[in-house]
Amino acid sequence: MSIISFSHVSKKYAGDVTALSEISLDINEGELVFLTGPSGAGKSTLLKLIAGMEKPSGGMLQVSGQDMRKLNRTTLPFLRRKLGLIMQQQRLLNDRNVLANVMLPLIISGATTQEAKERATVALERVGMLGKAQALPKALSGGEQQRVSIARAVVHKPRIILADEPTATLDRENGRMVLDMIEAFNRAGVTCVISTHDDRLLQDADRIVQLTQGKLIGIRTPNSEVGA
Ligand SMILES: Nc1ncnc2c1ncn2[C@@H]1O[C@H](COP(=O)(O)OP(=O)(O)OP(=O)(O)O)[C@@H](O)[C@H]1O
Ligand SMILES: [Mg+2]
Repeated sequence: MSIISFSHVSKKYAGDVTALSEISLDINEGELVFLTGPSGAGKSTLLKLIAGMEKPSGGMLQVSGQDMRKLNRTTLPFLRRKLGLIMQQQRLLNDRNVLANVMLPLIISGATTQEAKERATVALERVGMLGKAQALPKALSGGEQQRVSIARAVVHKPRIILADEPTATLDRENGRMVLDMIEAFNRAGVTCVISTHDDRLLQDADRIVQLTQGKLIGIRTPNSEVGA
């Protein structure tokens, strides 16, 4: 059963930049999918389309039954509750501590402070960061900040996790740890779509989607040759 479905999707940005063209791809519930490809291939754009941060210019995109062309101010919050986003531009807020950062998405969606605190505590525990709950983000290492970002992304129990190069700023050991944490949520049933430049991190993938210059050039499994 596909939870994300691209059919001939294209994305043009202003200035006539074609970031994606004719993408057709079905991602099944519970899958662990990696996006690879050189800089400018369209990886971030593909994730932003799934997140509803950008709209497709053509074709059909459905995410958890939502037609993304019809996304509006009423339907976006419903969709977002099903998504956990670990995107490069969504940094932690430095004016509040780790616990408050992780509580924030729940507070915004109407949870009580008590409820938000309890659930944020559980999420921080899962990523091994409860000991730093009172710290400010800037006092954490890059790997620790990324673990807090994961806690923030999963605190509302999303069905889908989208992660845009979650290991890009980390050394190999910390990158592996961060990925292991995301993959643990996948094993618990959460669909995960993760972009990466690092081929060493792909061994657990169900499928690896290869993009180049906005085109899907192949889909493979970790040990197979390229084949669309
Ligand atoms: N907001 C924007 N406005 C105009 N062009 C954009 C915008 N965002 C991305 N692009 C262009 O779309 C293309 C795809 O960009 P995208 O960021 O999706 O690539 P990427 O695969 O994530 O690259 P990287 O590995 O460097 O992160 C690039 O040519 C980029 O310059
Ligand atoms: Mg990118």
